[in-house]
Formats: sequence, structure tokens, C-alpha cells
Amino acid sequence: MNGLKLLATGRALPSQTLSNDDMSRYVETSDEWIGGRTGIRQRYFCAEGENATTLAIEASRLALERSGIPAAEIGCVVVATSSGEYVMPSTASMVHGALALDENIPTLDVGAACAGFLYAVEVARGLLLAGGRRYALVVGTEQMSSVLDMTDRTTCVLFGDGAGATVFELDTEREYVSVQGTRSDMAIRSGCPSITQKVPMQMDGQAVFRFAAAIIPKCVQDLFAKGGRTMDDVDWVVCHQANERILDASIRRLGGKEKFYKNIDRYANTSAASIAIALDEMNEQGLLEEGQRIVMVGFGGGLTWAGIMLCI
Ligand code: UT7
Repeated sequence: MNGLKLLATGRALPSQTLSNDDMSRYVETSDEWIGGRTGIRQRYFCAEGENATTLAIEASRLALERSGIPAAEIGCVVVATSSGEYVMPSTASMVHGALALDENIPTLDVGAACAGFLYAVEVARGLLLAGGRRYALVVGTEQMSSVLDMTDRTTCVLFGDGAGATVFELDTEREYVSVQGTRSDMAIRSGCPSITQKVPMQMDGQAVFRFAAAIIPKCVQDLFAKGGRTMDDVDWVVCHQANERILDASIRRLGGKEKFYKNIDRYANTSAASIAIALDEMNEQGLLEEGQRIVMVGFGGGLTWAGIMLCI
């Protein structure tokens, strides 16, 4: 119990769309290879003036408006990102300022790569429980294009930029089950270990594929064991969107094909933003209804994973 009711969602995307053919201007690749190996058909990349902060603010403003909750009642802001505009100040603190939220609330960023959004939900729930407030703004935002090596075809075609935001209400009567895990590994890395040694995105794709295809079924089965549920009890499974083949491999293990939401074709891998973007798309299409049981699974650099099963 002590679950989270999903009150509203929002998403924001950069103004530039790049097709797979556009990517072949940068590297030797093709729509056939990218589409066939990953399911990706296009991605969004930030243009001048757009970044993980501007996207997070736009998505958050939408979610807050749609929630109908006064800004002053938001009890915490948790933003998942691995490609924020700044390391300091946090993206969450800038969202807080742009939305003129109450001064006496915690705001922080969470770095757990592509699993980040679900870690952020978990942290937000903990902050609400500890702080006695009811509403949380939880965001996933990424400018993955800022960490990509546009000469490396094994990574640059896979990622995209975007943000998704959610407003949750703490509800003591609502079901909530979560699991997390870590297998310390450098199979995916990017960032700035020192000013003189910037590390663009590097990834051992095959190792991460094997990890992901095994960890989604494990995570879902762990959630079911912990919550005493089966796939029959679930309305939707929303996984981090990294590769359609990873999702299909998981579906073969778990069943419930029609419950798995997929949108990687339009966004590519938006890392910590992907699950929040998917939730907003589903909401927009009228697929989400109060009381539905949703399973969400994130996995990525770290290597980390997280699963949450909740009734929205
Ligand atoms: O969100 C974080 C989690 N990340 C993931 O989940 C990513 C998991 N991994 C994957 O999705 C897949 O491993 C990739 C999509 C990254 C790669 O697919 P793959 O089927 O494992 O391909 P591969 O790495 O075995 O490469 C096959 C061939 C290679 O050529 P050779 O050595 O067989 O001649 C690559 O050089 O494909 C080549 N290749 C490309 N060809 C055209 C690699 N990238 C490209 C490309 N265009 N963009």
C-alpha cells in the first residue's frame, strides 16, 4: 500500500526530427539496418536553445496544468536525467523556479541512466511519505544528442531527446510494489570525468542487449512474486524503450503481447524520459484509466534496473 495515483502527464519534444536517412548523413548506416535491428524510424534532437532543462520545464508545466493541482501544493520535484544542462544546479531546481513552486520543498535530480525515471518515482514516494505532503512532480528528461559521438554508428543512431512529466498523489490505500537492482558494469558510459577528458557515449551493445532481454522478465517476475499478481492482473506493461527486439524477446518469455506499449519507432531511446513519454502518449490516446494496474520496467547504464507495479 502507500501507492501513487497518477493524476496527470505531459511531454515535450525538441523542434528537430531526424529520420534514419538523415542519420546516414553522419555515419554509414541505413533505414533498413536501424529499423530492422531496433525498430527505430526517427528521433528528436534539440536545436539551438533547447536542452534537458527547457524540455523538462515544458513537460512539467503541461502535467501540472492538467493535474489541476495548485503549484503551491506540489510537495517535491524529482528529475531523472543523465544529460542535464548543468551538473549543478540540478534540473529539478530549475523546474521548481520556472513553475514558481513552494520554497519549502525538496528538489533533486536522480542519475540512474535509463532506469532513472522509476528511481525518481521511488524517491518521490519516499519524500512524500517522509515529508507529509501529497503531490509529487516526477520528470524524466534527456538531451542524449549532447553526449553522442556522431561519428560512431553503433551508438549515435540509437538515442533521442525528449522529456516526460507526471504528477502523482500519495494514496495510502493504493497498491504499490517495487524492485531495484544493480550489476556494477561500465558497458554503457558517457559524461565528463574531467574537464579535459570528455567521454562521449560508448556502449557494448551486445552485452547490454543480453542484460536487458534477461532483466525485463526477471524484474516483472520479481514484481509479480512480491505483489502476488500474474500477467492476467495487469492492464499495461510499460518498459524503457531501448530496442523493439528486446521488448519482443521479453514478450516471448512473459506473454501478454497486447499489454506491452511500444513507441520506440518515433522517439528512439530517450533514456530516463522514455517511460514518462510513453505514459503521456497513452494518456493522450485514452488508454489509461483510473484503477488500472500498470507494470513499468527500466534498465540501463550502471547497469541498473527498476520495476514498479502500481494501480494508477
Ligand atoms: O538504454 C540503454 C540500454 N541500451 C540497450 O538496450 C541497447 C542494447 N543493444 C542493442 O540494442 C543492440 O545490440 C544494437 C542495436 C546496439 C546493435 O544490434 P546488434 O544486432 O547487436 O548488432 P551488432 O552490434 O552485432 O552489429 C552487427 C553489424 C556489425 O557489422 P559486422 O561486424 O557484422 O560487419 C556492426 O558494425 O552491424 C554493424 N553496425 C551497423 N551497420 C549499419 C553497427 N551499427 C550499425 C549502423 N548501421 N548504425
